[in-house]
Amino acid sequence: MKTAEIRQKFLDFFASKGHQVVSSSSLVPGNDPTLLFTNAGMNQFKDVFLGFEKRPYNRATSSQKCVRAGGKHNDLENVGYTARHHTFFEMLGNFSFGDYFKRDAIHFAWEFLTSPQWLAIPKDKLMVTVYASDDEAFEIWAREIGVPEQKIVRIGDNKGAPYASDNFWQMGDTGPCGPCTEIFYDHGDHIWGGPPGSPEEDGDRFIEIWNCVFMQFNRDESGTMHPLPKPSVDTGMGLERISAVMQHVHANYEIDLFQNLIAAAARETGVPFSQETPSLKVIADHIRAVSFLIADGVLPSNDGRGYVLRRIIRRAIRHGYKLGQKGLFLHRLVADLVEQMGAAFPELAVHQAEIEDALRQEEQRFAETLDNGMALLEEALSGGKQRLEGNTLFKLYDTFGFPVDLTADICRERGIEADLDGFEREMEAQRARARAASSFKMAGNVDYSGEDTLFNGYEKASVDATVLALYKGQEQVETLDAGDEGIVVLDKTPFYAEGGGQIGDRGELSIAGGVGALFDVVDTQKIQAAVFGHKGRLVKGSLKVGDQVAATIDLHQRQATARNHSATHLLHAALRHVLGNHVAQKGSLVNAERTRFDFAHTEAVSTEQMVEIERVVNHVIAANYPISATTMSYDDAIRAGAMALFGEKYGDEVRVLKMGEFSTELCGGTHVARTGDIGLFKLVAESGVAAGVRRIEALTGEGALAHIQAQDALLRDLALRLKAQQSDEIVQRVTTLQDQMKSLDKELAQLKQKLAANAGEALVEQAQDIKGVKVLAAELPGADSNALRETLDKLKDKLRSAAIVLASVQDGKVSLVAGVTADLTSRLKAGELVNSVAQQVGGKGGGRPDMAQAGGTDPTQLPQALAGVANWVAAKL
Ligand code: ALA
Repeated sequence: MKTAEIRQKFLDFFASKGHQVVSSSSLVPGNDPTLLFTNAGMNQFKDVFLGFEKRPYNRATSSQKCVRAGGKHNDLENVGYTARHHTFFEMLGNFSFGDYFKRDAIHFAWEFLTSPQWLAIPKDKLMVTVYASDDEAFEIWAREIGVPEQKIVRIGDNKGAPYASDNFWQMGDTGPCGPCTEIFYDHGDHIWGGPPGSPEEDGDRFIEIWNCVFMQFNRDESGTMHPLPKPSVDTGMGLERISAVMQHVHANYEIDLFQNLIAAAARETGVPFSQETPSLKVIADHIRAVSFLIADGVLPSNDGRGYVLRRIIRRAIRHGYKLGQKGLFLHRLVADLVEQMGAAFPELAVHQAEIEDALRQEEQRFAETLDNGMALLEEALSGGKQRLEGNTLFKLYDTFGFPVDLTADICRERGIEADLDGFEREMEAQRARARAASSFKMAGNVDYSGEDTLFNGYEKASVDATVLALYKGQEQVETLDAGDEGIVVLDKTPFYAEGGGQIGDRGELSIAGGVGALFDVVDTQKIQAAVFGHKGRLVKGSLKVGDQVAATIDLHQRQATARNHSATHLLHAALRHVLGNHVAQKGSLVNAERTRFDFAHTEAVSTEQMVEIERVVNHVIAANYPISATTMSYDDAIRAGAMALFGEKYGDEVRVLKMGEFSTELCGGTHVARTGDIGLFKLVAESGVAAGVRRIEALTGEGALAHIQAQDALLRDLALRLKAQQSDEIVQRVTTLQDQMKSLDKELAQLKQKLAANAGEALVEQAQDIKGVKVLAAELPGADSNALRETLDKLKDKLRSAAIVLASVQDGKVSLVAGVTADLTSRLKAGELVNSVAQQVGGKGGGRPDMAQAGGTDPTQLPQALAGVANWVAAKL
């Protein structure tokens, strides 16, 4: 039975049991900052389990893309060396949201696995585990299903803490969790290993194929278990494992899908196909993870998700290298993957070109350092060392881009220990250097416990508020005195705190009347999720906790910032319009002066595209659409088509910002009321910031106008200097000037040659007579080598029996030519003569006995070298 068929059967089975078939969610968890990558089928239902979200169904089934690399469930290091570890895999699952519980979950699983109508696995090949205290599950297996009691193993807290058990599943350090029952398949006694719970359980004979979790608790940060509103079910069966069972093979890598990918990896690395080559398995595994991650919007980078992706890509490249493939190969496997999995996951074909581009670029980058890094590593490992020092690990990481786990991998292959602690120490030292070098921006580094700040800056520019806390520097105080720098926390505020790319507001806090006080706010930052810190200096008076202040923002800055922020949304939408829907925001910075927007796109934006983007945005500005903000649940917002920003953390309630029908985005920032308020939009720069990421900078309103006026003034100034009547004459004038320059240059060169030749003739007088031979050595300023040769010929004619050296200096380089008249060539060789001079000016040359040329790099030695010619000739005669 093929993998694709098993996937389909599973979904069909659960659909027949009243389950809604739900598509796999993205590998980048949409609404969950606690997760690096989607690592289980239940991730997309987390809030449903927690009771925060309702769906129109209470039974669901899916085949979910999962990545377990980095984060809590990390399998990267094992991939390629075991029968069934993967970075990417598919998890088949069925879910009950407060509907059925243990009984049905167990019956469903058993029916699907053993019924002749479905997978028809012989019952005696299966055994199960339950959580030690779960008598209910035990009884269902024993009494209702009829599994012999010796084949039902109770597993307790075998991982050293309460609820730390193979039979207690949790998604992460926090979140929904509960006891589980697992189904194991016995691959037969020809394979070493014992049943779960036995000392040999780590062997490969008994393999867990299905995990049914009885979701009962929500674990919080302190480790406390809160019962869920309704007991639920979450199950997971690895598609690759069950395929191995159904295809009567032992290792996942032997199933149909992997066989084809391994064959492709063999083809691209130029080695024979083999089931036994770990590097081929690594490549076959990794091409899946990296392609799916890139399809879901992750790009290689130096931190977070992007760095995990980079590590996987580099690990794959290194294994290709190990097989002898030193060229680029990985990107060529994408087409094979699309062929294998494109039908079930259409996003692969949609993003194929992007995936190939991103991989090719990453391969090119790493290729530049891989060879040198490997050489360094080989040297460090030579001589029978048992341990690789931390500083070498660090150097490979820092200079050659070797992720530390990649180097550790190589060490492991050779049975050498890698000093990871030493590496960490080097990293920490580097971080400390970086910290010392950057001017540290104080943000949340203060302790605060108390009320939250109510933000009403969407509606108001000024409010009366109460001082809740004061900090002098970072230390909490009761009073600030004139001149003190610090932070003020208020109960409510119109000041926007930096976030979502928009900078914090400036403004002032004041107490009017008698004593008075004035606090100049230079920045606003969140010191906790909902606590705003107003940072600045008390200009006069004194300020105490409990004081009433009038908090007023700098409206001019706010409005300029709002214009730029609203324009950023229009720019984002226009970029997708003009460049394509792959454009995803990678970062932004919006302040009163400008907006800076980073986005995924693999090539430079052309001038024509820039012009079009600018035109589209200004068109929408002129249409003067209303801008509205509505608060709703995250899922409603996504359903309404709002663009959520990749990797951004959103709460349950989000603010959806709509600009006519042109743009809908989740955003907490401050905006203008209508697109027309932006006034004018001008792009001013486009550049690349990282592989696959471009940056655009733009101005709006008065800033844009000032920019255009400055350009205009420049043109006017140019026109004036060029005596052009209008600016369109400038180009013509400049072309004429360039032509004139060219012909003048030519004339000048000719004149110089003439002058040089004349000067050369005048040199006849300077020739010395040495034993009847005329000897002349001179510099001809401005002459090129042609002129030197011509002059030489003339001088030879005139002097009749002579040895001559001529030189000139141009652009710091010396040109030399030497000539000897025919009557002397038996005694004097022009080649030797020119070299005797050339050596002294840092060069050499050669030629015929009567004429030779040379160059040199040290003009300072020239006069002396020329002066020595007469002696050199005298010695030869
Ligand atoms: N969520 C459970 C697992 O991943 C089913 O094993």
